[in-house]
Order: sequence, then structure tokens, then C-alpha cells
Amino acid sequence: ARYAPGMLRKVILAAAGSQRVERLVEGAPVSRNLVRRFVAGNSSDDALRCTRSLSDQGLAVTLDFLGEDTVSPEQAEATAGEYLRVLDALHAAELTPAAEVSLKLSALGQVFDDKQAYEHARAICAKASEAGTTVTLDMEDHTTTDSTLEILHRLRVDFPTVGVAIQAYLRRSEADCRELAVEGLRVRLCKGAYKEPESVAFQSRLDVDKSYVRCLNALMSGPGYPMVATHDPRLIAIAEDRARWFDRSADEFEFQMLFGVRPDEQLRLVDLGYTMRVYLPYGTQWYGYLMRRLGERPANLGFFLRALRSR
Ligand code: FDA
Repeated sequence: ARYAPGMLRKVILAAAGSQRVERLVEGAPVSRNLVRRFVAGNSSDDALRCTRSLSDQGLAVTLDFLGEDTVSPEQAEATAGEYLRVLDALHAAELTPAAEVSLKLSALGQVFDDKQAYEHARAICAKASEAGTTVTLDMEDHTTTDSTLEILHRLRVDFPTVGVAIQAYLRRSEADCRELAVEGLRVRLCKGAYKEPESVAFQSRLDVDKSYVRCLNALMSGPGYPMVATHDPRLIAIAEDRARWFDRSADEFEFQMLFGVRPDEQLRLVDLGYTMRVYLPYGTQWYGYLMRRLGERPANLGFFLRALRSR
């Protein structure tokens, strides 16, 4: 059957939010191959091993402990504890500052207690700073954007290197980028991975890409540190062009891609002298992450089905 890519994306993103589908998929033996392609492994040892191998290839890393939509304070506490431990381990293994960490505030309980999420994030930032590295806040669905930006600003008072992701598909993002284009602020520009209503987000690829370029202009022309997170060859070329136009040297911005996606292109950009940071997830809660990756690229669905058949 043929599906319009947009429709397929909607179906997959709907499945991403469905606990019934989650149980089905997690139960399937499938998942191991596919998971291994996009996720470092279940444990922090796997994460460290994978970080070292990427770092040996000249790639920088941002490590993400998988988990989102935490529903209890205990779960939030456990997630924070894992970040503290893995930062110690990265430091001990001398993998900092090449590796930093990415943080989903929802995994720290943002939805039910944003004060507590802030306190956990603060402890993680302090540990990162002790370990000689830093933190980037992921951006989740649009209902959390204001709270995430507010927490970012509070964290930056004591930890000025903490950065944040901005999603080009949100209509508000061009204005956010102008405000965030300030000295030293690390902003990761991505297209956006959640299912969002038309009232807040551009729906067509073309509109999202145009917004991405406007956001890129705002960031590249300011004094901050843009992190260009995309696999899109056209946007990568435009980012290189803008960097030249605004006279940015290779250490005044960076590229970022997801682990397992376009690995050859990652190394090509390293060879050109750019910083390329790989977003490397680990942990057992890979379901939501993986479903968003499938939604982005139906070709990955073929990979998924082949893995199923080969069992
Ligand atoms: P898109 O998916 O539109 O693909 C554009 C083009 O890129 C394709 O046409 C193809 O040419 C090429 N391409 C893409 N995937 C490929 C593949 N597997 N193989 C070969 N070519 C491929 N989202 C979010 O909402 N909050 C966040 O905090 C983050 N954080 C984040 C960090 C980092 C480092 C990255 C790279 C991404 C995120 N994202 C994110 C996800 C992001 O919003 C987005 O969903 C994905 O990056 C996919 O969008 P692309 O920009 O790659 O373009």
C-alpha cells in the first residue's frame, strides 16, 4: 500500500503515544536490531563504550538517558541519579569535555512539579560543571516550551554554558531565536519531532524548512553559539554558507546528528574541520524515541519490518 508520507508520519506519531502499541512493540523480538542501530545500549557501560568509539573517530557526543513523561517523584529522582552517575563515569573515563549530556525535563517530572524538575536539572548542571562539561535541554511538545525556556534562564545564572533545543516547526521559534541569540548561549536548532497542531506549528515540509532557515539566520548573525541539528543536506549546505557569510570560524558553531543516522556524512563534516556532535541515547526506555525516528523516515519502517521477518 502507498501512503502519503505526511499521513504515515501522523499514524506513527500517534502510535508513539499509545501504550497498547508500546507493549506490542516492546514484546516483539524485533526490536533488538532496530534499537541497536539507534541506541547505544541498555546500560551506562554501553553508553561509555559507544561514546569512546565515537570520540576515537573525532566525533563529539551528547549523551541522553532515555526516559520521558515521568509520572512519579521517585522516577524523576532515579533519572536524575542516573545522570549524576554517568557524568562521574564520563569524567573518570576522560571522555569530557568531548561528551556532554542532553536532558528531557519531562523525565525529571516537569509536567507535575516543575520546581522539582528545576532542582534536579540544577544538580545535574552542577555535576556536569564539576566534570568539565555541560548540559543541553531537549525541547519537547509545545505545551512545555515556556517552562523549559524559563528553567533554562534560571539555570544559566550559575551555569552559563547550559544550552537549549529550539524547534523550527513552531511558529514562535524565529522570535525565540532572536531572543536567544545572545553572547555565549548554545542553541540547538532542529526541525521538531512531535505531533503539533496547525495553530502552533507549520505543517508542510517546505514551511518548516523555510522557518529553519530564518531561525538559522537569526542565530548565525548573533553572538551566540548555534548548534545545527539536522541530517538535511540542503540545510547543512545553507548553514555552511551562512557561517561563511557571517564570518564564523569552525569553532564558533557546530553540527549535530543522531546516532545511527547518516554516519558517513557525520565523518565527512569532521574531515572538513567542523565539530560534529552525535546525539547518543541509551537506556531501556527507547520506545518513544524510536517511534519518532520511524515517523521521520518511513524507510526506517522497512528496516523495522525486515528485522521482524528475519526473526
Ligand atoms: P528530515 O527528517 O526532514 O530529513 C531531511 C533530509 O535529510 C531527508 O530528505 C534526507 O535527505 C536526509 N535524511 C534524514 N534522515 C536520513 C537518514 N536516516 N538517512 C539518510 N538521509 C537522511 N527534536 C525535538 O523535537 N526536540 C529535541 O530536543 C531534538 N533534539 C535533537 C537533537 C539532535 C542532535 C538532532 C539531530 C535532532 C533532534 N531532534 C529533536 C529531532 C529533530 O527535530 C528532527 O525530528 C530530526 O532531526 C529529523 O529532521 P531532519 O532535520 O534530519 O530532517
